[in-house]
Amino acid sequence: MATTDAVGAPPAVKSDLEDKKASAQQQIDPYNVAGEVDEQGNIKAIDYDRLIQEFGVQPLTEEHLRRFETVTGKKAHRLMRRKLFFSHRDFDKILDAYEQHGTFMLYTGRGPSSGSMHLGHTVPFLFTKELQEMFDVPLVIMMTDDEKYLYTRNKTEGHQKAGVAPEDFLDFAHENVKDILALGFDPMKTFIYTDYEYLGGHFYRNASEFESLVTFNQAAGAFGFGNSTNIGLIAYGAKQCVAAFPSSYPDLFGLKDYRGPDYPPEAKRRHKTLASIPTLIPCAIDQEPYFRILRDRCERMTDPHPKTSLILSKFLTALQGPGGKMSASDPNSAIFMSDTSSQIKNKINKHAFSGGRESLEEHRKLGGNPDVDVAFTYLSYFLEDDEELEDLAKRYRSGELLTGEMKQRCIAELQKFVTDFQERRKKVTDEVMREYMRPRKLEFGGNPSPTKPKAAANGDEGTASSGGAADGEKTAREDGRGTKGERKAAKLAEKKAQKLAQRPKDAE
Ligand code: TRP
Repeated sequence: MATTDAVGAPPAVKSDLEDKKASAQQQIDPYNVAGEVDEQGNIKAIDYDRLIQEFGVQPLTEEHLRRFETVTGKKAHRLMRRKLFFSHRDFDKILDAYEQHGTFMLYTGRGPSSGSMHLGHTVPFLFTKELQEMFDVPLVIMMTDDEKYLYTRNKTEGHQKAGVAPEDFLDFAHENVKDILALGFDPMKTFIYTDYEYLGGHFYRNASEFESLVTFNQAAGAFGFGNSTNIGLIAYGAKQCVAAFPSSYPDLFGLKDYRGPDYPPEAKRRHKTLASIPTLIPCAIDQEPYFRILRDRCERMTDPHPKTSLILSKFLTALQGPGGKMSASDPNSAIFMSDTSSQIKNKINKHAFSGGRESLEEHRKLGGNPDVDVAFTYLSYFLEDDEELEDLAKRYRSGELLTGEMKQRCIAELQKFVTDFQERRKKVTDEVMREYMRPRKLEFGGNPSPTKPKAAANGDEGTASSGGAADGEKTAREDGRGTKGERKAAKLAEKKAQKLAQRPKDAE
């Protein structure tokens, strides 16, 4: 399995990235999500405990929830309470940073593989939106039109004609952006962009530097690339990684993103203050291989960043049941955000895997199993009321509640969620979308009473708002006058300039 950072040489030639469904192992990486297949050919539920072991991530514990509630003063989100966001890396550290220094940046993203989003795609965004509100922090959302173009080309590699162009994926990205914005992100604190439109400037310089830190073998090991993977896809990961660095987005913090021909000498200096702002990435666990590579290299950048924190979710089960996730390419596996109420009803009634018994008598006698019941599973994602959810599970187990009744409750909840969404989606015009996509200074308050507040950056570094820092030591010297090294360099430059000015005289 291509899941560890330690890698050997890739096989000489293989059909890269192909679903390895023939193998019985469970496979989770950015390009494959599949449960184990047993000898009879049945797909088993994804084993998340095993994934925690294999990936070396930490389980999210009750203690984390309590700490979260203390730091934010808010009840933990239902997706955390129910451990649907179930694991993390350094989640404690981001809470510490927020408590002490006041802020961090949130980063998440989506690969626009088609123009329509399903229920499963909304999950990380719903969660991220609430984190943004609770913490009052800036958020960046990356739409990877480039990744999905390259991935699609890779699958059709060898064909004479592509059949698709980058613009197709840019179009998908715009449709997806509108869907994401319909979930209700705060326009003052949210920047959303597509790679084709935005990448350049400081972002690209970070990406180029990061590319130099990743060998082909390392990328091959993490993503299952081989010798026939196109080079765009091989390099793409660096972009998804540096998208986690606040220094990739100076505009959002009121600093200049030097891109054009008016490149002043001071632009050689990076905005080091931004490198001290920590980042938290909420995402589904299939993206973890990217961020494992990121975390290993944060501190090796010219402007070192604190190791990015992660909070990782499970996948929203396909209608057919555990073992697969909702997939846009299989319409019967998913509920789309564009589905009508009657489509939702039909899909749940017809296709949702049931944890109930064969016959009514058996069900009444032995009870059902909510843990594998898809209608109940969806309710655990979307129903806010803990008591009602528990009551449904209890009555299902006892045989009092029937599959049809569970489905009905699920249908009602999903219809409400999807129709509310569709109402808001209508209001996301091109103008609204473009406002969120404009690089601009974001407004955020962060923690109103940090225990170790850090002086805001000033001088020609502008202000990084309440930009918190991962460690006080690093920020003490970053007071807007530049680091020690930079001040030394500036003095040297000044001396050199003086010398140059004297030169004609010297030459005489
Ligand atoms: N690769 C992701 C996808 O295919 C998109 C993405 C980019 C992303 N950056 C991210 C997802 C950060 C989660 C977090 O969907």
